[in-house]
Amino acid sequence: MRIVLLGAPGAGKGTQAKKLVDKYGIPQISTGDLLRAAVSAGTPLGKEAKSYMDQGQLVPDSVVLGMVEERMKQDDVKKGYILDGFPRNTSQAEVLDKMLASLNMSLDAALSVDVPFEDLMKRLTGRRTCKACGQMYNVYFSPSSKGDACDKCGGALFHRDDDKEETIKKRLDVYTASTAPLLDYYKGKGIVKSIAGTGSIDDIFAQVCAALNLK
Ligand code: AP5
Repeated sequence: MRIVLLGAPGAGKGTQAKKLVDKYGIPQISTGDLLRAAVSAGTPLGKEAKSYMDQGQLVPDSVVLGMVEERMKQDDVKKGYILDGFPRNTSQAEVLDKMLASLNMSLDAALSVDVPFEDLMKRLTGRRTCKACGQMYNVYFSPSSKGDACDKCGGALFHRDDDKEETIKKRLDVYTASTAPLLDYYKGKGIVKSIAGTGSIDDIFAQVCAALNLK
């Protein structure tokens, strides 16, 4: 199964991708996670990426594409992958097509998770993530019972630097201008499946599995 997850910031792409990883063992390739890891490690790539991420802008393709190419060479992707947050614009989608063609691969689906914009601000300002295991919480909708510690592993929860209201507004503008057009790009290839991303996380996951014909 090779899929691209489409959806605005906060639509629940990461939440659903993690459930697919847990249930089916398909690796999640999240460019946001890869970039945040580079920022934390203080690598030159991370230093370059940070200023764009803090402003809610896309990191330049020259930085992102090399990183994805490296990740796609690892062994675990042979059994498929969930691309989360990549591609982010038409030029990245075109490069991905070329990359896949050179590996004799194609995408099975582009799954669009649709959430009204008015729901996204609370999802993002309320998001908390475990530093240790990556489990996600939301102070409004699904808080950890241990406050600032993770229910699963006890790790410390953090609030992403780009989940501030002003930066979120910018990210939503960038999404509308650069990423939303990918829906038509993949519709042109006949591989788009759309689901509503509102309601309970488990109900949405059932829709994800049904849309992807996963048992
Ligand atoms: P990235 O990390 O990709 O962020 P994003 O696309 O903005 O998406 P999010 O992670 O914010 O949201 P999500 O849809 O995964 O939602 P989640 O499941 O976490 O990118 C960050 C930055 O990195 C970009 O701005 C850019 O600078 C850079 N970048 C990344 N990729 C790039 C690329 N390819 N090219 C260039 N730059 C790139 O859920 C959000 C919250 O909602 C959580 O609290 C969750 O618990 C809650 N939630 C989930 N589902 C539900 C539900 N059903 N009901 C209520 N709450 C819910």
